[in-house]
Amino acid sequence: MPRTVDLVSPRRERFEDRRKELDQRKLLDEFFDHGTLLAVSRLVNQGLFDLLDHPISSGKEGGVFRASKGSEFRAVKIYRISNTTFRRLPAYALEELRREASVRNFGGLIFAWTRREHTILGRLQDAGVRAPRPFGHWRNVLVMEYIGNAEGAAPRLKDVPIDAPAALYEELVAEFGRMVRDAKLVHGDLSPYNTLYHDGHVVIIDVAQAIATDHPEARRLLERDVTNFARFLGRLGYEVEPADFLAAVGGDRLGEGTET
Ligand SMILES: Nc1ncnc2c1ncn2[C@@H]1O[C@H](COP(=O)(O)OP(=O)(O)OP(=O)(O)O)[C@@H](O)[C@H]1O
Ligand SMILES: [Mg+2]
Repeated sequence: MPRTVDLVSPRRERFEDRRKELDQRKLLDEFFDHGTLLAVSRLVNQGLFDLLDHPISSGKEGGVFRASKGSEFRAVKIYRISNTTFRRLPAYALEELRREASVRNFGGLIFAWTRREHTILGRLQDAGVRAPRPFGHWRNVLVMEYIGNAEGAAPRLKDVPIDAPAALYEELVAEFGRMVRDAKLVHGDLSPYNTLYHDGHVVIIDVAQAIATDHPEARRLLERDVTNFARFLGRLGYEVEPADFLAAVGGDRLGEGTET
């Protein structure tokens, strides 16, 4: 018998592999509809990246891919044009979108959403908040700075062992504070899931639903954001009152004078 044992895996395993491969392909087919492929190739032609390497994360609403540009990496976020994506968009942000853009259909809404994420990332850069730098967008595809290194994308804060929660709190206060006071934005979906941890520092991601601090919902959303994080810090053994956290980031003054 020729020694094929190393080459051919047991039958069940092969079936499992094949199923995974098909699942993966199905996901990719669903993602890369014709319009999305055209958008990707347009961004490639503009020189924003050379090729998509592999998915970093993929789900029902879209995915984030690592891309290469020469020897550098970039992150490419692709929103799926589907009603699942649409359903996720919070009502207050949808209203803003409708005001900003003359949006007539799902597609238009998702494109406006992508543009919104790009704009907000730009405002965060200008304010010096640690968030991915935006490089460009087209339709449902957004190109931004890749947070990570050659070994892999940065982990989410929730998956990182934290041994100095007090220092983490200080850093969160500094970043959220810059976001509120300088960028004049409230994230609205801040959590240890939407915060990466890279080179010993936090990086805020997933910002499309952020809203201006003078929006009537801003204070409520910021309260929710800091309460999420106070709970997370509490589990790490660092107790902080949400009200103190809110005041530390300049949120206690939101909502003043907006009723008039
Ligand atoms: N710029 C980036 N660099 C590296 N990894 C990133 C970047 N942006 C996003 N990711 C990874 O992709 C995941 C999903 O990104 P994001 O949170 O922006 O999208 P999402 O649509 O909210 O997806 P999910 O529902 O999984 O959070 C993140 O949790 C993170 O692991
Ligand atoms: Mg997210």
